[in-house]
Amino acid sequence: MGKKETITSLKTAKRDRKLVMITAYDALFASLFADAADLLLVGDSLNMSFLGEPDTLSATLDQMIYHTRAVCNGAPESFVICDMPFGTTNTKEEALANAVRVFQQTHADAVKIEGGLERAELVEHLCSNAIAVMGHVGLMPQSVRSEGGYIVQGRDETSFAKVIKDAKAIEAAGAFALVVEGVTPDLGRAVTKAVSIPVIGIGAGKDTDGQVLVWSDMLGFFEAFKPKFVKRYMNGAEAVREAVGKYAEEVRNGIFPAEEHCYK
Ligand code: KIV
Repeated sequence: MGKKETITSLKTAKRDRKLVMITAYDALFASLFADAADLLLVGDSLNMSFLGEPDTLSATLDQMIYHTRAVCNGAPESFVICDMPFGTTNTKEEALANAVRVFQQTHADAVKIEGGLERAELVEHLCSNAIAVMGHVGLMPQSVRSEGGYIVQGRDETSFAKVIKDAKAIEAAGAFALVVEGVTPDLGRAVTKAVSIPVIGIGAGKDTDGQVLVWSDMLGFFEAFKPKFVKRYMNGAEAVREAVGKYAEEVRNGIFPAEEHCYK
């Protein structure tokens, strides 16, 4: 991998290349992902895959800061984005104070905030105070309870138009990039055309400027459910079970440790 990405290189990417983003939650895996990915997202999805909670709503800022520090330590040359968790960006003053904490207590390059038009003023406030913001529109997991589920957007004219309006508002507020999640491929394409900042899709079809996946989904470690948009590039859970099973068997049979694992 070459030099660390910057806001400028990421914005230019819209014309030149597809952007690859993957979530990371700890130093070890961040170091493994760093070479292949352009961006590492410390997503609040860690609340589900790592903490075992049913949704992202109980993730805290302390938790996000802890994991973001780890990711920045493991991948110091990567562009790292910290997700602002539910309830930490309700007012612009609160959002700025919390984003400043993220910037002061980690080496994150940017924060990500879920929300459209209703969050535009707040995003503008952060951007004008030296906080780089990635927006997140379409299906917003932090709204799962108020929406009554994870609802794909863009299947009707109203939601199609709303997501476009949200994306434009977040761009106008100064966000350097946008995640669009859980939308029809037509809407993914339309959002990507509607704004001049890079649009990174997840469950948004192939015509966005880049893609993001949650690492524990794409490597097959998270087995509780598999959203339609996830492609499993390995079967991590099976590989781990097999390896740990072998270790347990060898301990029980006296095969491990062998001679070469013993001090002389
Ligand atoms: O929390 C997360 O991992 C995310 C991605 C799904 C975009 O927000």
